[in-house]
Amino acid sequence: MTDIILEARNLTKEFKGFVAVRDVNLQVRRGTIHALIGPNGAGKSTVFNLLTKFLAPTHGQILYDGRDITAMKPADVALMGLVRSFQISAVFPHLSVLENVRVALQRPLGTSFHFWKSGSTLHDLHGRALDLIEAVNLTPWAHHTAAELPYGRKRALEIATTLALDPEVMLLDEPLAGMGHEDIERTAALIKRVSADRTVLMVEHNLSVVAHLSDTITVLRRGEILAEGPYEVVSKNAQVMEAYMGTGHA
Ligand SMILES: Nc1ncnc2c1ncn2[C@@H]1O[C@H](COP(=O)(O)OP(=O)(O)OP(=O)(O)O)[C@@H](O)[C@H]1O
Ligand SMILES: [Mg+2]
Repeated sequence: MTDIILEARNLTKEFKGFVAVRDVNLQVRRGTIHALIGPNGAGKSTVFNLLTKFLAPTHGQILYDGRDITAMKPADVALMGLVRSFQISAVFPHLSVLENVRVALQRPLGTSFHFWKSGSTLHDLHGRALDLIEAVNLTPWAHHTAAELPYGRKRALEIATTLALDPEVMLLDEPLAGMGHEDIERTAALIKRVSADRTVLMVEHNLSVVAHLSDTITVLRRGEILAEGPYEVVSKNAQVMEAYMGTGHA
């Protein structure tokens, strides 16, 4: 076991000559919450898509648990435990919260497959679905359709369906975007809670919302790493302050 669960080495992505991500070196420590932040166009989504294998890098390598996964397919890395959150659109709107989580639990991926194949009866599946729903505070909503959920609760359902795969590393793309203050607090607490025995890498626009949530923050700007460290360090970095100045988002 290595301390670094996910690593990018000299990661570069060009789109028709435009360098969206330049020589990014990133090390995500096992068991931590790591946030990747930066202003618009910084390259956050591109890095996220590279790490989860939805994009192929122009140069560079990605290592997961010490293994080179650069040439692997998203489904194969998901099998190894590196799972990105589903987009909201992947939640079935006309199914109930309970049905959505049950469907996710039955996806033949990763350890959840083994769990479900090895010992379980239908009752275990049901019980595990209810446990996950409880874990994300959706018990009162269990029998409502996904379409009926308020926005913040939809994101909680998305986290539950991701957790159903029992990922070792959970990657979340702007899990707090578009939320009001109350939902941000609740979802941040949820991310903290579910990170207990796994690693979380999250992309966020704002520095302030990840302040108390992240062990490590990497700040990207124009495709390059500007600063990295705990909040207390990066928030005092002059270049970071400048990158966020005037945006009202720091
Ligand atoms: N498929 C693509 N083709 C061409 N250019 C792209 C493509 N995807 C991203 N880019 C460019 O790469 C840069 C980084 O984009 P990216 O979406 O990764 O930024 P981001 O940090 O996620 O921004 P945002 O905060 O707006 O989500 C931007 O200048 C963007 O226009
Ligand atoms: Mg983005």
